[in-house]
Amino acid sequence: MSREWTLVGATTEYTVGLPEDGGWLELRAWGPHGVSDGPSPVGYVGKAQYMTAGDVAAVEYAPDGVRPFAGPDLVVRPARALSWAFEDASHSGDLLKVDFLDPVSGLRAALHYRLAPDSDVVERWVELTNTGAAPLQLAEAGSGGFCVPTPHGARLTYLSGQWAQEFTPATTELWRGRFEIGSALGVTGHQFSPYLAVQDARDTGQTWGVALAWTGSWRIAAERDAAGLTRVRAGRVAVDGPIALPPGATFVTPVAAGAYSADGVDGLARVWHAYERRLAGDRLTRTRKVIYNSWEATYFDVTAAGQLALAEIAAELGVETFVVDDGWFVGRPDDHGGLGDWTPDPAKFPDGFDTFVGRVRGLGLDFGLWVEPEMVNPRSALYEAHPDWVYQVDGRPRTTIRNQYLLDLGRPDVERFVHSTLDGLLRQYDITYLKWDFNRPRTEPGRPGVPDEELDLDGAHVAALYRILEALRRDHPHVTVEGCAAGGGRVDLAMASRVDVVWPSDNTAPIDRLRIQDGYLRAHAPHLMSSWVTDSTGFFDPRPRSLAFRFVLASAGVLGIGADIRHWSPDERAEAARWVARYKPVRDVVTRGEVHRVGGPDQERCAVQYTLEGRVVVLAWNPGPLDGLDTVPARPVRLPLRGLDPAARYEAGGRTYSGAHLMSVGLPIRWTVGYDADMIEIIPR
Ligand code: GLA
Repeated sequence: MSREWTLVGATTEYTVGLPEDGGWLELRAWGPHGVSDGPSPVGYVGKAQYMTAGDVAAVEYAPDGVRPFAGPDLVVRPARALSWAFEDASHSGDLLKVDFLDPVSGLRAALHYRLAPDSDVVERWVELTNTGAAPLQLAEAGSGGFCVPTPHGARLTYLSGQWAQEFTPATTELWRGRFEIGSALGVTGHQFSPYLAVQDARDTGQTWGVALAWTGSWRIAAERDAAGLTRVRAGRVAVDGPIALPPGATFVTPVAAGAYSADGVDGLARVWHAYERRLAGDRLTRTRKVIYNSWEATYFDVTAAGQLALAEIAAELGVETFVVDDGWFVGRPDDHGGLGDWTPDPAKFPDGFDTFVGRVRGLGLDFGLWVEPEMVNPRSALYEAHPDWVYQVDGRPRTTIRNQYLLDLGRPDVERFVHSTLDGLLRQYDITYLKWDFNRPRTEPGRPGVPDEELDLDGAHVAALYRILEALRRDHPHVTVEGCAAGGGRVDLAMASRVDVVWPSDNTAPIDRLRIQDGYLRAHAPHLMSSWVTDSTGFFDPRPRSLAFRFVLASAGVLGIGADIRHWSPDERAEAARWVARYKPVRDVVTRGEVHRVGGPDQERCAVQYTLEGRVVVLAWNPGPLDGLDTVPARPVRLPLRGLDPAARYEAGGRTYSGAHLMSVGLPIRWTVGYDADMIEIIPR
């Protein structure tokens, strides 16, 4: 290597170097502190036969001329077989920038890396500038390739799903070839999370992760070569065709993030959680208020009286924010109309919406509202006025999904409408919580009157979404924003830095939800995880569970209630109030603490341990059958804890233990018919 740069994080380092000919940047080492001090685990010996050196090397960012056979990150037209030469580099603080220039096309690429000293996530993005005289098109413009040594095969862990079944973890082994996940929906999607964990097939301690901060269409592809290197390409996909890069223009790729942990997929989750806490910035330490959401109680049957009846009970239970979901605005008796006309329905709120909000506030509750501002129903005043505002291709039918169209947010007039509508609602009413939904992906890729080659619909939509979210957070800093997309259809690192909480799934049934939350926590942090206690029985696993089970489960992140509490008995309400009161003093530990999963939803032991500054809370569930209820000999479930002082004593559930016992043997729990979940504080004595 002629030059090398090392980025140093909290426990990891990432070293890249420039080969003698300066034709590309390549990875030298990525792992724990000190990993770069020795022969590179991703360097190769021997000759590249029947291919080019760039196809074999651990290239960081490869145009098609550098990696013609193995698969490039960047394809530019008309400049095919693009190659470039090193120009310049600057490394200051936690930021490294390495510039390459192609003298033929004039394309300049600035490869950016950032690794903060208190983080273990390296952020990478590329700025592509057309310094030439001729227009260019980006046929492929990934964010980068992450190289991982996998001498015995690659073990890949990912999260897949569908509506009501998001974040299902799966593992596959890749010997040769390609494994790819992604979305062509113009949105992150329910099908796959932009998250991949890579391990060597035989040694599953060391774990590398790749994730993407992008809310449009995307791809993460892992390719393992004959010499045992797995290269993970991550980035946008140009679903609308090549992206125009006229002379003088700069295109910035989304951030692809790489994480390392020596502690398996769960250790990697802790690295991602810490990173998402950083992304939250100073909004992290705000109290995550207990919400009530009326969706599952009233669906579209919203009336002032009905909502106030719910709000009164919610206030008695200790709820802090009351959120009215879908159905509050004009023309919305069901999901066939109304989207786009964001005016409270006077028939549903006969004394005025202001008065209604005032009454909710008078109960001591904050007030929140559901919106789906990027959408319009054909049956709405907005669509009548602006049929040209929806995505459409001339001469082709427009596809409705859930009876609605998607607005072309990339149009400046649509962006202004969406921003001013939301800004107006927040100014007019006493609102502190906004649930922003998105219930359909994009179908028709077109905008009337604009030639296809000038459009980057995906990029324009996402950029406008980010601008609006950022403006609302700036101008209404007291408002909590919940991100939702028919459940968990829009959860990614870019949203994690722009919303306060996300709705992981519309499935709120106890055992189904336990699985979803367990998968979610592999990639995302609890402070972002909204969860409600509801009456739902289950789509996939309807085995009944207690109210306690539901409360402990919803307490695993940001607690909410979504049941029809008008029908809860006095005993159920009293129990609910006790659970809310137990959650409040530990919610900072749950939403900001380090997470250790114990077992999982398909094992007899299933718990999550949260640790914050020496405070420990364990949430535990019995997802399975009982052990014979004393008719046969059995041993209690044991939940081994982490990070305690082995020599110290701790009190948990009425008795004391040594830290060594709790860590090696584990906290004992004996589940019974009436006892299937618990929230346990581990208190130093
Ligand atoms: C989506 C959301 C739900 C609810 C409904 C309202 O499905 O995920 O939580 O808000 O829309 O129509």
